[in-house]
Amino acid sequence: MKAESLSSGLVRQARVLHPISTDELRILLLENISQDAVKSFRAQGFQVDHFAKAWSEEELVEKIGTYHAIGIRSKTKITERVIKAASKLLVIGCFCIGTNQVDLLTAAKAGIPVFNSPFSNSRSVAELVIGEIVVLSRQLFDRARELKDGLWNKVSKGCWEVRGKTLGIVGYGHIGSQLSVLAESMGMRVLFYDVLPLMPLGSAQQVETLDDLLARSDFVTLHVPELQETINMIGAPQLAKMRKGAYLLNNARGKVVDLPALIEAVKSGHLAGAAVDVYPSEPSSNGPFDNSLNSFATELRALPNVILTPHIGGSTEEAQRMIGDEVATALSRYLNAGTTIGSVNFPEVDLRVPQTETRDFIRICHVHKNQPGVLRNVNHLLGNFNVEKQYSDSKGDIAYVLADIIQDKQADRYKLRELQDQINATETNILTRVLA
Ligand SMILES: NC(=O)c1ccc[n+]([C@@H]2O[C@H](COP(=O)([O-])OP(=O)(O)OC[C@H]3O[C@@H](n4cnc5c(N)ncnc54)[C@H](O)[C@@H]3O)[C@@H](O)[C@H]2O)c1
Repeated sequence: MKAESLSSGLVRQARVLHPISTDELRILLLENISQDAVKSFRAQGFQVDHFAKAWSEEELVEKIGTYHAIGIRSKTKITERVIKAASKLLVIGCFCIGTNQVDLLTAAKAGIPVFNSPFSNSRSVAELVIGEIVVLSRQLFDRARELKDGLWNKVSKGCWEVRGKTLGIVGYGHIGSQLSVLAESMGMRVLFYDVLPLMPLGSAQQVETLDDLLARSDFVTLHVPELQETINMIGAPQLAKMRKGAYLLNNARGKVVDLPALIEAVKSGHLAGAAVDVYPSEPSSNGPFDNSLNSFATELRALPNVILTPHIGGSTEEAQRMIGDEVATALSRYLNAGTTIGSVNFPEVDLRVPQTETRDFIRICHVHKNQPGVLRNVNHLLGNFNVEKQYSDSKGDIAYVLADIIQDKQADRYKLRELQDQINATETNILTRVLA
């Protein structure tokens, strides 16, 4: 199909919904969030205030009361006190990977979903790993450092092509699976180990046990989350099971590898090298990296053919741009359509928005306490209307219902106001919005 026929209306557009009973929606963006996000919000009719710096708790408590949405990065702390002062706040967007800076539980109890962008940098990490594999197998890091220090040291012993070598990927999620495709394109064989049975991409092969993967791989790369069961997942016993002369790469989380054990494995010559991007304790700002945070830092820095990087796996311009797009889209979808897919603290609920030419309809977005009997009460109230679609889910103490009501008569609009008041008056109501 040609581009002009796409824009000339052959493809049906989903309708844009708007809240029927709130004032103009105001969005506060802190910490220099991208201008693309600002433009996108303004284009949708939101009023946007944009600031370059993070705000302190005091500033937030004083000023957040007039905003319906807030976008932050990692420096702004959204505490319980801030949430209590945020009487109009509907949604929080973390334009970054982590969400530790937000009191997620208090936000959920106040009916405020929190969105972030956990997977926008997957490709950046996968590409870095490819680079590290080549750099390790050619001892490039050490040769380059020697020459910069004024030493010509031409070596081929212990340097290898990566073609035909086996890459073992631990954790075949967003990053692991991207990496699998890139590695095969360079002629590597790919094995992976994951707790879930997963469809391999290309010719990759899933193995049954971690030990099997360790024993069969020339390069072992870690892409698992930090969980109770992944802390120290690679320690002395696992390193001993790796092939002599193999390499270990950790771009996942610092606590997944027992670094003192890795130091011993490299020192003894059992491993030919390693790449480490993440550490059990990491500095909170740029500056020294010494033994004050990790007692073994000096020893680690002195190892041959070991690449150390300051947690930059996902740090690219492209990833930053994708974070901006992804979080801005999630906030808009929540404000305009009530969708909570991708929220970190909320039940994930979505209903397709009908196309423009379908009859008038109203969407009820009802956040409520997760208690028995709530749906019976709400459905009793909805029962007077033509409910076309309804979807609900719960997470912890809260639950969320989306219900689409077809409006047959103009008069329904008045009844809908009444309905909203009635739902708001239910004992278990946390927040109810009506979009039209
Ligand atoms: N270095 C960086 O800058 C950087 C950037 C992005 C992500 N990360 C980290 O990379 C890791 C992977 O990210 P992702 O986006 O691919 O995550 P993901 O959730 O998409 O994939 C993780 C995979 O690990 C699997 N898994 C979980 N527990 C396991 C276990 N015990 N054994 C084997 N497999 C297990 C899961 O089933 C899943 O398939 C995360 O820890 C993330 O925090 C680091």
